[in-house]
Amino acid sequence: MGWDKQRLEQVARTRLGGARLIVVANREPYIHCYRNGEVEWIRPAGGLTTALDPVMQACGGVWVAHGSGDADLEVCDTNGRVGVPPDDPNYVLRRVWLTRDEEEGYYYGTANSMLWPLCHQVFCRPTFDPTHWEVYRKVNEQFAQAVLEEAAGGPALVFVQDYHFALLPRMLKAARPDLVVAQFWHIPWPNPEKLLVCPWAKELLEGMLGNDLLAFHTQYHCNMFLDTVDRTLECRIDRERFAVVCGGQDTTVRPYPISVDPELAKEYLGDNWEVRAAAIRKKHRLGKRPVIVGVDRVDYTKGIPERLRAVDRLLQKHPELKGQFHFIQIGAPSRTHIPAYRDLTDEVQELAEKINWEHGTDSWQPVVFLNEHYGPEDIFVLYRMAAACVVSSLHDGMNLVAKEFVTTRDDERGVLVLSKFTGAASELVDSVLVNPFDVDEMAEGLLLSLTMSVGEQERRMRRMRAQVEDCNIYRWAGMLLSEVGKRVPEPEPPVEVTNQESATTQSDLILEETQQGLERLIARENYLTAMRLAAAGM
Ligand code: F6P
Repeated sequence: MGWDKQRLEQVARTRLGGARLIVVANREPYIHCYRNGEVEWIRPAGGLTTALDPVMQACGGVWVAHGSGDADLEVCDTNGRVGVPPDDPNYVLRRVWLTRDEEEGYYYGTANSMLWPLCHQVFCRPTFDPTHWEVYRKVNEQFAQAVLEEAAGGPALVFVQDYHFALLPRMLKAARPDLVVAQFWHIPWPNPEKLLVCPWAKELLEGMLGNDLLAFHTQYHCNMFLDTVDRTLECRIDRERFAVVCGGQDTTVRPYPISVDPELAKEYLGDNWEVRAAAIRKKHRLGKRPVIVGVDRVDYTKGIPERLRAVDRLLQKHPELKGQFHFIQIGAPSRTHIPAYRDLTDEVQELAEKINWEHGTDSWQPVVFLNEHYGPEDIFVLYRMAAACVVSSLHDGMNLVAKEFVTTRDDERGVLVLSKFTGAASELVDSVLVNPFDVDEMAEGLLLSLTMSVGEQERRMRRMRAQVEDCNIYRWAGMLLSEVGKRVPEPEPPVEVTNQESATTQSDLILEETQQGLERLIARENYLTAMRLAAAGM
C-alpha cells in the first residue's frame, strides 16, 4: 500500500492519540505582504516549507514560525495566530515577532553565517560571533516560550525543523519533560574535525540531545553526528540502536530522506500549462528551442556560477550548438542582507552577461537569468516544458528541486543533471550524475541532456518517477511519526459522562481558560527556573 495524504492522516490519528502536533520552523509556510496597498500572501522559496505544508494539511496542528512578512501582523489575532492556508484554513500558524537585532544575530548571524557554511562543504569560512550566538540563544528561548504556550494543558509532540533551533529541544525538555520532541536537521552534518572548530559545539550538541528523535537525510550524516558527540561529550553511544544517552535523555538518531508531494504537480500545472509555457517562450524569445532550467535560491551552496561556466564551456567546445538551446536560471533572492549572498548575485549576473556577450547574437541569448521570486505555478510550467533540469549544488542535504522536476514529467521525458553531492543523488540514480567542481564533466552532462535519445529519457524518467512516487513526503512524515509516536503516551480511556456533567456552562469555559492560563504560568515558571539552573551550570 502506497503512502498518501489519507494514510498519513490515519497514522497521525493513531500515533498522536490526543497529543497536539506542534511544528517549529524559522520559515513560515505563508507570508502576508502588502502589494499596491493590498494585503496578499505568497509561498516562500525553499524546500522545507513546500515539503511540510502538505504534512500539516494532513495532520492539523500548529506551525510556530518567524513572522517575516510586512503584513503578517495585520492578519493575526493578538496571540500572533492565523489560520492557513489563507484560502482554505485547516491548521494554525503561530507567528513569533523578532526585532531587527534579533534577526541579525539569530538568522543572518548564527544560523546563516555560522551554521550554514559550517555544515556545508563549500569552502566559505563561517563567522563565529559571540554577540550573534547570545542572540541565537535568546531567540531559541523565545520560540520555546511560544511552543510552551501552544502546548499548555495537554500532551504534545513538538517537531522542530533545522539548524535555526539547535538549542530549543533541550529548553523544551527542561520546562516540560513530558513533551515528545523530535528534530529534523535539513542540512548536512559535517565531520567532527570541521564541526569542532565551533566555539559553542558542546552547547549545540547538548541542545540537540534534548530530542527524543533526531533525524538527518542520510545515514552518513547520522554517523558523523554520533562521531562528533563521541569526541565531545561524556555520554553513552549505543551504535546498535543508533542512540545517545546523555544526562538521562535517550536520543535516537536516524536517517529519513525528505521528499515532495507528487500530486502537487497536477495541481500547479492545471489544464492550461501549455498556454502558460507558450507565454514564457514568447516573453523570453525562446522560439521552439530546447530549454535547460535551473531553479534555486541564489545561494553559494547551489553551484550556480559552476553551471554557468559549464554552459560557457559547452559552447566553446561545441560552437555548433550556438543558437540551438537556452539556459534559464530562476534565482530567487535569498538572505541578501549577508555580503556573500549579495556578491554571489553580482557574480551570477556578470557571468550571464559575459556568456551572452561572447556567444549570443541580437536574436539569440543563451542565458536568461531571472533574479526574482516565482510561485510554484510558474516554476512547475518551466520544469514541464524543459528538455533538462540542472541541479549542481556543491553540497546539499537533499535538494527537492530535483524531485519536484521529476514529478512534473508525466510525459516521461526530460533529463535531470544532478550533482553527486546532493542527498537526492543516492535516490535518483537514473539522473546524469556530475561533479559540479569539474567544468568538463558538467559540460558533458549538459551535452548528454540535449542529445539523449527519447527511449533512454523515458527509461530513466520512469524509474525516477517511481522512486519519488513511492518515497514521497507522506511516507517521510508517516515513518517519522510512527517512530516518535511510540513515545507519545496512550490517550486516557474516555470517561462516562452524565448529561448533567456534559452540559458546558459559561463558568466551565472560564474555568477551562483559567486552568490553561495557570498551566501556562507554571510552564513558564518551570522553564525560567530550568534556564536559571542551566545558566548557573547546575
Ligand atoms: O534547510 C535549508 C533551509 O534553511 C530551509 O529552511 C529552506 O529549505 C531553505 O533553506 C530556505 O532558506 P530560508 O528560510 O533562509 O530562506
